Amino acid sequence: MNTLILGSGGREHALAWKIAQSHHCNQLFIAPGNPGMASLGTLVNIGTHDFEGIKTFCLTNKIDVLVVGPEEPLVNGIYDFMERAKTENGWKGFVVGPSKEAAQLEGSKAFSKKFMNRNNIPTAAYAEFTKENFEDGIAYIKQHNLPIVLKADGLAAGKGVVISETHEDALAVFEEMIINQQFGKASSKVVIEAFLKGIEVSVFVLTNGVDYQVIGHAKDYKRIGEGDTGLNTGGMGCVTPVPFMDDAFMQKVEERIIVPTVKGLAKEGLVYNGFIFFGLMNVEGNPEVIEYNCRMGDPETEVVMPRLETDLLSLFAAMDNGTLEDANINFADGYFATVVAVSGGYPGDYKKNIPITGLENSLPASSLLFQAGTKQNEDTIVTNGGRVLTVTSKGHSIKEAVEQSISVLKDIHFEGINYRKDIGYEFN
Ligand code: AMP
Ligand code: GLY
Repeated sequence: MNTLILGSGGREHALAWKIAQSHHCNQLFIAPGNPGMASLGTLVNIGTHDFEGIKTFCLTNKIDVLVVGPEEPLVNGIYDFMERAKTENGWKGFVVGPSKEAAQLEGSKAFSKKFMNRNNIPTAAYAEFTKENFEDGIAYIKQHNLPIVLKADGLAAGKGVVISETHEDALAVFEEMIINQQFGKASSKVVIEAFLKGIEVSVFVLTNGVDYQVIGHAKDYKRIGEGDTGLNTGGMGCVTPVPFMDDAFMQKVEERIIVPTVKGLAKEGLVYNGFIFFGLMNVEGNPEVIEYNCRMGDPETEVVMPRLETDLLSLFAAMDNGTLEDANINFADGYFATVVAVSGGYPGDYKKNIPITGLENSLPASSLLFQAGTKQNEDTIVTNGGRVLTVTSKGHSIKEAVEQSISVLKDIHFEGINYRKDIGYEFN
């Protein structure tokens, strides 16, 4: 199968690493990719928003599978656009991702809350507000328990969720989002919801809207500082398997959340052929949905793919031809941990174009290095983003895997490099 992966981060590097191992893999392309992936496939200079360019490339290179890494092209309708390329241009491939309508599960918090309520899927109680009922929103906040969670309805690059400990803070955030349009159109609608107390875990499913397979789960560490302190980031590390994800808990996740979600998609005619990322809270042993994402997570993919033994291209083919139910999913033994190295200053302002040394070091057999925010500058690989590198290791325990990743990072340098040394701390 000829495959094109869209995206350029650690998630896409891990997907490329996994797909390149498949005996079904013919040609592998990544657009735009990063220098870390150049040894796995051919980098193509097309942006993820350039739908016309992607279509032309898929037709010219007879791409069989288009794997969409990030959410934006999905929410903007790449699936529907490429469906038209089938009918209008005779494209023979398929997209791994949901239709534009179904991608609203991630693209609109209000849409996903309504979907969950219609399908009796456990999630925090909520209400939604716009400029039109702003005063009702103020009254709603004033009588709400604390902490209180405010969410910009649309995509806000992971910054649209604010948890307030006081009513005053919540009112200020509410005004900032709706009146001052902090996130532009994305915050013209705001979802206000109850705070769920518990431990977060994410579950990853591949579905064609009828059948599904659970391909992994992970716990990620979002805060910049050790001990889960400081600002939120895109993710500073993650671990799998998570000790509390035993069969009993997983059964509740399937019965109460995954099955009703997939049935809901079918019942409501929401076309879905891709990954669902269930962001869950374990509330005293009972799972509730915090959010849906319509793609894989980053850095979760960097632990989920190494743990998944099943061939990914076979799974995509099974998803497309309706045999997903018969697939065998196998996981490697042991624990996997990813530690993310970020630019100094991230998630605030940071410098780019800083040379990275040590990338050519040979890695221990139990470790993998996935590049994220990097680019090639003549002979040197330089930093090109907040999250720069991710190192995944396998161990007999979470602690051993994390320590192994840290020992790899100790020999890699760029000015300002920062990473958390306490990933997985609560499981030590
Ligand atoms: P989201 O953008 O929906 O993933 O939210 C970002 C983060 O905010 C989540 O990963 C949680 O840590 C936190 N969060 C969101 N909603 C809630 C909630 N209802 N209760 C507690 N924490 C939440
Ligand atoms: N690590 C969280 C995400 O990919 O959204």
